[in-house]
Amino acid sequence: MPQTDDSHAVAPPGARWRAGLKGRQVEPQARERLAVLCAGLEPRADLLIEHLHRLQDADGGLRQGLLAALAERLRLSQAEVHEVATFYHHFGPVDDTAALPATTVRVCTSLSCAMAGGESLLAGLRQRLAGDPAVRVVEAPCIGQCHRAPAACAGQHQLPAASVESISAALAQGQTGPRALPVSGAPESASDYAQLRRLLAGALTPDAVLAELKASGLRGLGGAGFPAWRKWETVRAQSGPRYLVVNIDEGEVGTFKDWQLLATQPRLALEGLLIAARVVGADKAWIYLRDEYHDCRVLLQDELAALRQRIAGWQAEFPQVAWPEIELRRGAGAYVCGEESALIESLEGKRGLPRLKPPIVALQGLFGRPTLAHNVETLSWLPAILERGGAWLAGQGRRGRSGLRRFSVSGRVKKPGCYLAPAGITLRELIDEYAGGMADGHELQAYLPGGASGGILPAALADLPLDFDTLAGQGAFVGSMAVVLLSQQDSVREVAAGLMHFFEHESCGQCTPCRAGTAQARALMQAPAWDAERLADLSNCLREASICGLGQAAPNPFDSVLRFFPREVQS
Ligand SMILES: Cc1cc2nc3c(=O)[nH]c(=O)nc-3n(C[C@H](O)[C@H](O)[C@H](O)COP(=O)(O)O)c2cc1C
Ligand code: SF4
Ligand code: FES
Repeated sequence: MPQTDDSHAVAPPGARWRAGLKGRQVEPQARERLAVLCAGLEPRADLLIEHLHRLQDADGGLRQGLLAALAERLRLSQAEVHEVATFYHHFGPVDDTAALPATTVRVCTSLSCAMAGGESLLAGLRQRLAGDPAVRVVEAPCIGQCHRAPAACAGQHQLPAASVESISAALAQGQTGPRALPVSGAPESASDYAQLRRLLAGALTPDAVLAELKASGLRGLGGAGFPAWRKWETVRAQSGPRYLVVNIDEGEVGTFKDWQLLATQPRLALEGLLIAARVVGADKAWIYLRDEYHDCRVLLQDELAALRQRIAGWQAEFPQVAWPEIELRRGAGAYVCGEESALIESLEGKRGLPRLKPPIVALQGLFGRPTLAHNVETLSWLPAILERGGAWLAGQGRRGRSGLRRFSVSGRVKKPGCYLAPAGITLRELIDEYAGGMADGHELQAYLPGGASGGILPAALADLPLDFDTLAGQGAFVGSMAVVLLSQQDSVREVAAGLMHFFEHESCGQCTPCRAGTAQARALMQAPAWDAERLADLSNCLREASICGLGQAAPNPFDSVLRFFPREVQS
């Protein structure tokens, strides 16, 4: 029997880690440095990604020696740490002696930025910084600043409307930390947390909240549009402990509504969270924030600190109330982690691999417990619904649709931005009434109603109501309401190819149809004339055999081109 040397290992009773580490030995210096870098973080396996962020932020990469020490600290195998470290795009395991640049600049080349010159910005920046060992320039998918394209991020400093000059200036001035948002430190107003206080004081009962929610017709705004009250009732009916998860992963190309909401009204999200937690009886809540939103992370950290103080005050006033603990977690650059079960895996400290359903997360979610998972905007509607009544929200809308929708509008319009508009508004109305019309010199050729996933529609269909369930006949959907406008200056086939590149890059790889199918589709889409038959086969296979919505929606771009713009891809 092989002998193991476990002299360096201290396994606590009951740990799932086995004495006798496999793999690399842990150096004492690595152990000491790890302790310094991860000070204040509990050594819990579910906090693996938080630990990895500390190492990545400190060194600009993940040194193998520190990863071995981390495995020891979290009582995980080195293989488990390695597989998580290599899954997320914002982590990079490297040799202990590798030279690492102090700053990484990410330049977005996704659709809205590509239209605004993202590719030439990337090339220009690479040229300008060639030979500078302190900076690494990488291409990145959408960073949620599509309304001010092209966007980049220098270290943790988001730079909308970026140019080679503005990025170089930020680097020269050492501006690589999170930017401050204007609402940061804003004093509390009388309306902040007012509906929560009514609930705590008994002026509203949990049943009354649920009744208003039902009356409002509020649907999940993360993409699927599922009625919110149904999930609440399901979770509430389960035995505890129950959990709440707030999804702020917002990785869908062209979507920035959650960023806009958080950056301007962060307390609505926190109030909605606390109301939901109280009504469904959630013991603990997690906020999962995409890593690219460094500014919102700082804002939320400050708001949560202030909220904890407020709660300390409320505890005296409402001694019977059990307050949920709230954990703020950082994503690490994986679009698929927006899918709720992948997000839950990520919160558990694992790779973001979507789970097979059933069971649905409302029954068996985080750590196997009933979990209410919501998009942050969905929860942010709670204060308004309780203040104005559910019927008020239900009464909004056009063409028989109900509610208000936050559209992220980008591309060839005069005023790209985030607009709160009636559900059922048409694209033409959205452009004319909200986005200032098409940009000068641009005529509408086509549009994406729901980011990368929602298909591409021709200008001839600009009078359809934009809402859940209305575009299925056209092979499209609104999803997270990311509307991107294309003009006669854009090539629809190139747009579709770029979106397929995105899906291939973001596929988690666990199902073969999605892993291999997105790569094959991208290759087929390079040909001057597309092989429509093979693409149709691939489309079928991706839709039928993919575990999650990423693979199921991946064929939408090429299916749309074949259906609405066939002449673009015929020889
Ligand atoms: C590939 C993929 C990515 C997703 N990304 C997000 C996301 O970034 N934010 C989000 O709220 N929902 C996202 N979703 C939808 C979630 O799985 C889930 O439906 C949603 O968070 C539930 O909240 P809601 O009911 O409030 O919409 C994504 C789904 C898929 C399939
Ligand atoms: S469909 Fe794609 S992203 Fe979704 S689980 Fe399968 S491989 Fe992963
Ligand atoms: S920030 Fe570039 S496309 Fe969204």
